[in-house]
Amino acid sequence: MTREITPTDARVRQEQTPSHEMIERLRQDNDRYAAAHDGRRRRAFVLTFGCQQNEADSERIAGMCVECGYALTDNAADADLIMVNTCAIREHAEKKALSVVGQYKHLKAKHPELIIGVCGCMVAQEHRRDELKRSYPYVDFVFGTTVLHRFPSLLYEKLSSGRRRFCADSEDHVVPEGMPVHRESGYRAWVSIMYGCNNFCSYCIVPYVRGRERSRRREEIVAEVRALVADGYRDITLLGQNVNSYAKGCGWDYDFADLLEELDAIEGDYTLRFMTSHPKDASSKLIDVMARGTHIAHHFHLPMQSGSDDVLRRMNRHYDTARYLSIVDELRAKIPDITLTSDIIVGFPGESEEDFEATLTMLRRVRFDMLYSFIYSARRGTPAAVMEAQIPPAVQSARFERLLALQNEIAGQINEGSVGSTVRVLCDGVSKNNEKLYSGRTDGNKIVFFEGTPEDTGRFLLVTVERSEPFALYGSKK
Ligand code: 5AD
Ligand code: SF4
Repeated sequence: MTREITPTDARVRQEQTPSHEMIERLRQDNDRYAAAHDGRRRRAFVLTFGCQQNEADSERIAGMCVECGYALTDNAADADLIMVNTCAIREHAEKKALSVVGQYKHLKAKHPELIIGVCGCMVAQEHRRDELKRSYPYVDFVFGTTVLHRFPSLLYEKLSSGRRRFCADSEDHVVPEGMPVHRESGYRAWVSIMYGCNNFCSYCIVPYVRGRERSRRREEIVAEVRALVADGYRDITLLGQNVNSYAKGCGWDYDFADLLEELDAIEGDYTLRFMTSHPKDASSKLIDVMARGTHIAHHFHLPMQSGSDDVLRRMNRHYDTARYLSIVDELRAKIPDITLTSDIIVGFPGESEEDFEATLTMLRRVRFDMLYSFIYSARRGTPAAVMEAQIPPAVQSARFERLLALQNEIAGQINEGSVGSTVRVLCDGVSKNNEKLYSGRTDGNKIVFFEGTPEDTGRFLLVTVERSEPFALYGSKK
């Protein structure tokens, strides 16, 4: 399954937009439908699994739906078009997506006109496309991550000829520009700065399902961020599988640190953040730009994956714990209030008790503010899936619990230390879990609960922290 890695620009076309002709035809068809149904438009429901990149893709799918004349709904049972944007990072994510698609069989039986499309990382894999084609006859079309812009054409084809389509990814790597976007929030926005990944970490499916790295041009990104700031967006996250290799191999005379610095110069009241950074290419130049920036969140998400040099080598991560610690030390020296978060995989093939202990030792040494921890999940076609000494699930789970317990203790102590301080928070409105309180996020993306008012939503507030838990802060508005 390994493909040759080509330089970023070799086969990249910089512009690829959805077909305006197809959008126009769909819009006319949907207008006719609405006119014949007392103004009721056909409705589209977009369901998203997985990471922020998928959320950003779903906002484009929703944007195309709106351009095509659909109204959006958040109720699948109410929809005339359902799009499921899937994830493949772990087996559990695939199982969940397949189970949800399975439930839509009943909706289609009740409403035969319903159209069901499946896209995203899971269906970028041939065996999953075949499975959907064979075992899910009510799925109308499927397309992978690199051909998002073909969605209106596939939809039109289905509506006009009834043909099912199972579209593989494009070998001709494209950088979509000018796609319509329907943003979920009026104050937080995702901005993809690059797509794909060249790293081939031995456990990871992403390079196979999202293709090789390709970067958007700086001018396009600057224009998008400028427009977002002008529209009142307060929190802008730059997205890429490895933003640190932005523009690498493109022959352009700038890199991610230059891009960040240029974006930071845009005037306005907003925060810039980015994810994800691979430790192997985290540069001093980037840290310096962050340290002197005015809008850049003092937050670094730096996936460590393991604290054992041997495991890191077999993960094909291209750094060791000494290098990782040197980045952490430099970050803390130059940006003393930095929030550090990380990803850890537990139970990678061949992980010994000693290797796992080394991870715990690193956790004690670095003291991350927050950790996203995962039990290793074998992904078909990746090198790690066929490594010897796969770890039994019971051992994986026991280690996972130990990791969580240690991290809880550390995060609890760190958060306890912020009691009495005042933090800046971007308010997200009434908390989903506790209707009496409002919630928001700090620069470091920590969740804070407080008593708020509807006008606070989408605004920066100062909150004095009065109480803490390992995963949350509680306080009062200043
Ligand atoms: N199993 C478990 N976790 C994984 N991740 C990536 N691939 C796998 C896998 N096969 C985790 C990594 C990555 C995060 C997004 O998901 O920690 O940083
Ligand atoms: Fe996967 Fe590694 Fe690429 Fe991240 S850097 S997407 S973990 S292959």
